[in-house]
Amino acid sequence: MILADVPSSPAAQLKQQKRPCCSFNGCVHLCKKLQVVTGDSGFNVRLCNGTDMLLEPGMSNPTILINKVTQQLGHPTQSLIGWLVKEFLVNKNWIVEVKAANLAQIQPNNTVLEVGFGPGLGLQEALQYLTGSNGKLYGLDYSEYMHKTATRRLQDQITSGKVQLILGSVEDIPLPDSSVDRVFHCNCYYFWPDLKKGSAELLRVMKPEALMVTTLRLNTVKTGVSFGLLRGKMWQPEYYMDALQATGFRDVRMEEMEDKGFKFNAIFATASK
Ligand SMILES: C[S@@+](CC[C@H](N)C(=O)[O-])C[C@H]1O[C@@H](n2cnc3c(N)ncnc32)[C@H](O)[C@@H]1O
Repeated sequence: MILADVPSSPAAQLKQQKRPCCSFNGCVHLCKKLQVVTGDSGFNVRLCNGTDMLLEPGMSNPTILINKVTQQLGHPTQSLIGWLVKEFLVNKNWIVEVKAANLAQIQPNNTVLEVGFGPGLGLQEALQYLTGSNGKLYGLDYSEYMHKTATRRLQDQITSGKVQLILGSVEDIPLPDSSVDRVFHCNCYYFWPDLKKGSAELLRVMKPEALMVTTLRLNTVKTGVSFGLLRGKMWQPEYYMDALQATGFRDVRMEEMEDKGFKFNAIFATASK
């Protein structure tokens, strides 16, 4: 299986300039192609020199592998599959992530929150619009591994106080009521344990009329689901949109969008209080 062909991300281009190969176990050219192939003893990652590396010993059962990948997408940990998920997010998912920040209409002095920031590429994008001295960016994610990764990416802005990363869940956000102007998230709501609880908590921290944007590639998600990914998760946009409406958001709508030939979906919602 070769995962979707997406243009190299700025991060991958930089990595290629600095270091021709990825550092993990030799040189897996994930920045170009993520190839997972079936081998004699299970699933392998194909290295750029043509040899195969066993993904995880004893993991020859596709259902176990797919469940592990789902688990790691929802809560990446420092592990081989967690690392592969992180590389996938940086190199293959970056456009959808960046688009979420891009569509949130962030103003220079806004207070902005990203839920489930993963490796932190959307946070980096959001910072470009937060040019005012009062502009503040919060990131919330419950993965310690993603915290470490995003902290490395945004160290200077964290040190200056412009960015604050919070280790926590969408169901319990340590921010005051009506304090946030913009919220964005990407490929995240599928993993929330309770969509209504998460939506209600986001509504609580958002100012009246604040905008929330989420992005996804619905067709890619559906393909993943057909392979068994996201089993038992509420990935269907209708569930998320119903939860938003039920908790008090208005103008909830999903749009199909395209940017330079790249197709994706964006869900918009406005806090009504
Ligand atoms: C599939 S990853 C997407 C990461 C990033 N948005 C991207 O697209 O590159 C999902 C992220 O959401 C985080 N996440 C999932 N459920 C969460 C929750 N209930 N509260 C906070 N973060 C959550 C995970 O830890 C993970 O970093």
